[in-house]
Amino acid sequence: MNIPVIAIDGPSASGKGTVAQRVAAELGFHYLDSGALYRLTALAAEKAGAGWDDEAAVARVAAALDVVFDGDVVLLAGEDVSTEIRSEHIGVGASKVAALPAVRSALLQRQRDFARAPGLLGDGRDMGEVIFPQAELKVFLTATPEARAERRYKQLIARGEAADLAAITADLAARDERDRNRLVAPLRQLPDAKLLDTTAMGIDEAVATILRWWREK
Ligand code: DC
Repeated sequence: MNIPVIAIDGPSASGKGTVAQRVAAELGFHYLDSGALYRLTALAAEKAGAGWDDEAAVARVAAALDVVFDGDVVLLAGEDVSTEIRSEHIGVGASKVAALPAVRSALLQRQRDFARAPGLLGDGRDMGEVIFPQAELKVFLTATPEARAERRYKQLIARGEAADLAAITADLAARDERDRNRLVAPLRQLPDAKLLDTTAMGIDEAVATILRWWREK
């Protein structure tokens, strides 16, 4: 398999999804939002009446997922679930099912199948370690917890939702702690990943930095 792959990971609210999608668009690469697959698995499990902690049942659901990604639209068994999978409730389910090894294996090949010419930008937790260890460029995109909390806060306010900066900061810190300490696919910077700290950087500069790293490869 000689398809070029860029793998991006990093903590939540780091702006990684936005940056990753922009880089993919600039290069004309395919884009894999692996988090969306875990969200879809959680939603499909719920629809099938499988509990999020029932490893065998959820793994069967994951293996049989009928998903179509079409730009920003995600279809599950033909139904547009783009908004539904972004809910807080499904986010909780996704983090639960993502901790089950049988579910991760069930989604392994499906993620590898996204690697098609001319290249792939893979976004998510074990992208550079398990799914595409051969990736030519691995990026760990992060920012301080304060900067990430402030970004999420502004996002919520812009959407007209209520937001409390202190609560968001505390939530992010707790989530980082859980993500770093979990046994399955913990959050960490791989030894061969380049660190991109976007604390004092806008999206354009982050995108330009990754594109420069890619050209230098
Ligand atoms: O990035 P996100 O919030 O859409 O991810 C949803 C959940 O899935 C989150 O708990 C992290 C987890 N996840 C994972 O374990 N492995 C991935 N490759 C991507 C996401």
